[in-house]
Amino acid sequence: MCGIVAAAARREVSEILLEGLRRLEYRGYDSAGMALIDNEHRLLLHKQLGKVSELERAQQLQPYYGCTGIAHTRWATHGEPSAANAHPHISGQRLALVHNGIIENHEVLRAELQSQGYDFASGTDSEVIAHLLHGFLQQGDGLVDAMRQTVRKLEGAYAVAAIDIHHPDQVIAARHGSPLVIGVGIGENFLASDQLALRQVTDRFVYLEEGDLALISPSELLVFNEQGEPVCRDQTPIDDVVESVELGAYDHYMLKEIYDQPRALAATFHACDNLLRDDSCFGDGAAAIFDRVNNVQIAACGTSYHAGMVARYWLEELAGIACEVEVASEFRYRKRVQHEGTLLLTISQSGETADTLAALRNAGEHEFVGTMVIANVDNSSLVRESDLVFLTRAGAEIGVASTKAFTTQLVALLMLTIALGRRRGMSPEKQQEVINALQRLPDFVEETLELDTNIQQLSEAFIPKHHALFLGRGIQYPIAMEGSLKLKEISYIHAEAYPAGELKHGPLALVDDDMPVVAVAPGDELLEKLKSNLEEVRSRGGELFVFADRAAGFSSEPRVKVLNMPHCPEVIKPIVYTVALQLLSYHVAVQKGTDVDKPRNLAKSVTVE
Ligand code: AGP
Repeated sequence: MCGIVAAAARREVSEILLEGLRRLEYRGYDSAGMALIDNEHRLLLHKQLGKVSELERAQQLQPYYGCTGIAHTRWATHGEPSAANAHPHISGQRLALVHNGIIENHEVLRAELQSQGYDFASGTDSEVIAHLLHGFLQQGDGLVDAMRQTVRKLEGAYAVAAIDIHHPDQVIAARHGSPLVIGVGIGENFLASDQLALRQVTDRFVYLEEGDLALISPSELLVFNEQGEPVCRDQTPIDDVVESVELGAYDHYMLKEIYDQPRALAATFHACDNLLRDDSCFGDGAAAIFDRVNNVQIAACGTSYHAGMVARYWLEELAGIACEVEVASEFRYRKRVQHEGTLLLTISQSGETADTLAALRNAGEHEFVGTMVIANVDNSSLVRESDLVFLTRAGAEIGVASTKAFTTQLVALLMLTIALGRRRGMSPEKQQEVINALQRLPDFVEETLELDTNIQQLSEAFIPKHHALFLGRGIQYPIAMEGSLKLKEISYIHAEAYPAGELKHGPLALVDDDMPVVAVAPGDELLEKLKSNLEEVRSRGGELFVFADRAAGFSSEPRVKVLNMPHCPEVIKPIVYTVALQLLSYHVAVQKGTDVDKPRNLAKSVTVE
């Protein structure tokens, strides 16, 4: 949700900042801006409505150069997307500031600042921070003290970075509730809201902790904790191969990421060496915590929540462990009855989702036997704050619509099911059967990807439609939910998912020829029941799109189109069918001409409530 990049170097940094923004653009993309201090100590500013490419264009037309700078790509919260509301915000013609997060008391602060004579150029909550900082600097405080005084006045979540022409080679930053990382260079230092932005210039990072302030210059990197004491935070080298954030031969990141799934699933599965005996892949101390688990409480948002819903079926049916799943934004505020022996499991691609993080942070107030996260981003807040961690090996997911992060989460959850099930009488044969299925999973996903052209043909029928219904039964119901979320977020077609049995209790009233109905109908035990539900749709003029196991006995006929899916083990069907639904949404969106990777109004990482 918004992206920050900053640099203090002895070389010109505008291109580094722009490249950082390109890499962060998936976090927000309604406007972008960059401020630089040039070698005559002038503050130079570009702000543009629209994508980072608009900012690049402005920089080409009017190039600004400097060795110290900050840049930002925005996802609007307060104030509509516009050049005026884009960051950086300027105060007193001397400083520029970028902000991620939400300042909850901005109205009070704005009124105070206005009464002191500050004019506001934007409708954002962020501009108050720039003027507050300016006020303290004008009183003669140094950058660190002025920032400390400033953040004391803020309520809400923030990651901020600022530059000041009176300190031309320094960047001051602070974090509370929004991530910020320092990239350590040689004779240069950087800051960003995500290390991905800085992999172009360094592989050494210092992750700031809650309440930290940081001051960087080309030669120095100072961190102060919430109490104002200088602290030495560990440097983390990231020595994996620099992940490709290039599109390569693909038209969109989403497609690239869909096609990356066989690799990502295999890599995630191979993260655990010996699932039948060893729990160490879930983190130090996993065995001791798992031994005490009687229930699992899952909290997550969006697609990650759907992964949790799938896991509930696995945990209860295969492992015999009671499981509750709740969207984190509800869970965090609800008074709950806590069962003894409950593991709190959060699931998050980014590891930074504000509601999920709040659910974890509230955990302290309850008696959990431990907390665990399944995340895709190492060193993210959820990873740093959970007792146990399983990192999915999806690799960077840039498309806003989550694809490979979801399917790798499902692999992780199935492996967790084995680890917990082993303790609850899941037979060794059953455990081995699941492992065998997981081993073969990448091949079944490859087979599904080979259906791409057929799926593209199916997708054409959705282009003129305004609504779609997704049906599934049992464990395929959350897969139907995920399919409908994918369609609505990238094609803007209104889509809903229902358990197939609920159809006649209401949604059937909506079925007509403007309402394609997608049925996730593998050949499982519920197939016969689902078949009769589908008849109800067809007899009302609805057009059916059935994703069915080759062996299920469905065949295409007028108003019923069948996609014959690979015949694969039951337990991995939710994963395999997801891939087909991802391709369906992708092709609908491409043909509708939407911005597939950056759908309107959305952002990749939702770090505000
Ligand atoms: C998925 O396609 C979404 N864009 C969104 O629902 C996402 O899954 C959700 O915001 C949670 O994000 P997280 O996994 O990073 O916590």
